[in-house]
Order: sequence, then C-alpha cells, then structure tokens
Amino acid sequence: MLRFENVQKRFPDGTEAIRNITLHVPQGQFCVVLGPSGAGKSTLLRMLNGLSRPTQGSVYLGNELISDQSVQQLRKKVATVHQQFNLTPRMSVALNVLSGALPQVSHWRAALCLFPAELRAKACRLLDEVGLTPEHLNRRVSELSGGQQQRVGIARAFMMDPAVLLADEPVASLDPRISRGILELLHRQSRNHNTTVLCSLHQPDLARAFGDRIIAVNQGRLVFDGTPDQLTDTVCEALYHGALNRGHDTSAALSAACEPELAVA
Ligand SMILES: Nc1ncnc2c1ncn2[C@@H]1O[C@H](COP(=O)(O)OP(=O)(O)O)[C@@H](O)[C@H]1O
Ligand SMILES: [Mg+2]
Repeated sequence: MLRFENVQKRFPDGTEAIRNITLHVPQGQFCVVLGPSGAGKSTLLRMLNGLSRPTQGSVYLGNELISDQSVQQLRKKVATVHQQFNLTPRMSVALNVLSGALPQVSHWRAALCLFPAELRAKACRLLDEVGLTPEHLNRRVSELSGGQQQRVGIARAFMMDPAVLLADEPVASLDPRISRGILELLHRQSRNHNTTVLCSLHQPDLARAFGDRIIAVNQGRLVFDGTPDQLTDTVCEALYHGALNRGHDTSAALSAACEPELAVA
C-alpha cells in the first residue's frame, strides 16, 4: 500500500503545486493520474522517487516513511518510465536494460560493464516480455523506433523488481496506435509483477481503457477519484474545458461536477 497523507508541496517561489492530498493506492493497482498541464501530476509522482519533497505531510510505502529517503534508497523500490524514454541512445539495448540494475551492482563492475550472469539472464527475460527479440540486444537504442525505445525503458524499469512504477506521460511522445500497445504492455507487466503503477496521462479515453482506478488533479487538489466507468464525459468536461474557460471559478466548478464521484470512491 502506497499512502500520501495530507501532502502539500509549495515551491520556494510560492507556487502551491500540491495542496493537501491524501491518497491510498493498494499494492498492484494501476492508478491513472489525469489532469491538465500544470495540475501537479509530475510533482505528485516525483514525491515517490525523491526528486521532490513534500513541504508538509508524509508518503509511506507499506510501513516505511519514504518521503525522507534519498534518491539512491528509493531507486531500489521505485522505478520510472519517462515521456522522452531517458535512455542512453549510443549504448546497446542490452546495456540500457542492465542499467536498471545499477543500484545493486558495484561501481567498478558497472564501470567495466561486468554485470553478473543472473542479471544478464534477467535482462533477456524482460526484453522478451516487452516484445523485443534477441536480434535487438546489441543494437544501439538510437536505431530503434520510439515505441521500441519505450519498450526498452519498460524492461529497464523492471530490473529491480520495483514495488512502485512511475510512468509520467509515458506515451506523450508516441502516436495513438503505438500508445495503446505501450499502455497494454505496462498494464500487463505491472499485473504480472504485482507492481503498483502511478501513470499520468492526459487522454481520458486511454485512462478509461487502462486504469484500474483514475484520479484527477487540478490546481494541486484531488478533484476526482473513481473507476473508469465513473469518469463520465461531464467530469472530463469540467476537468479540461471548464477549467480552461472558467478561470478563477475552476475549483468550485470541478468540485460541483466531481462531488458524486468523490462520494462514491
Ligand atoms: N521547480 C519548480 N519551481 C516552481 N514551480 C514549479 C516547479 N516545478 C513545477 N512547478 C509548478 O507547479 C505546478 C505543477 O507542475 P507539474 O507538477 O509539473 O504539473 P503537471 O505535471 O500536471 O503538468 C505548475 O504550476 C508548475 O509551474
Ligand atoms: Mg508533468
């Protein structure tokens, strides 16, 4: 179980990116985070990998308080899949996947690219799981398509058997047909490995298709928490178009539109 308890993030310039969010995500759940640009999605996710610290409140993974742990400690249990893949383009597919295990490999072994046999076998297994073939192993990542690169990113993310996977707009750089395949893969991998996923998206149709649960944030607040069926067009309208059109009345409009779903959830 992942728990955000009364979490707030205020940046030094005064921006309140997250305002008092409490959220519990059971182990193994695929939770989609929806919301317009600037809503606070990335900040919420970054509190789990140590790249952002709450200014108030706490984040727990099981019984462990993780909001005060270092980035190095968190790398062992929280993996990230990025919008721009964040791979090393000139390196081989195999080394990119193996780099996901760096937190458990000594510095000198890593420097010499000497990964133990069991890690190399695991990298091959994961590449097979994400739909790449042995012929991809020694190819440079820069030679692969965007969809294939994201498959490498997903294989890398599972090298440490993470309890939590963060996917921050993982398909924003891909075309719609490829996006579905990547989300299907993420969903299947997280189910098979019992990994909790927080996946930010901005397409409601993809959220409905792949989320076990959908939450929406706007202006740093949790404004919706429900099942894909409960994410009605009215809620989406309020979240996106209402927010854009109503200016300062956004929060009130969203609360009104979302209250039934918050009550159900
Ligand atoms: N380092 C920062 N310093 C100040 N404000 C920031 C910083 N990072 C993000 N913000 C602001 O916090 C809010 C939420 O940003 P973010 O979490 O990136 O939103 P999203 O991922 O939903 O687009 C935005 O208003 C953004 O401008
Ligand atoms: Mg973002």
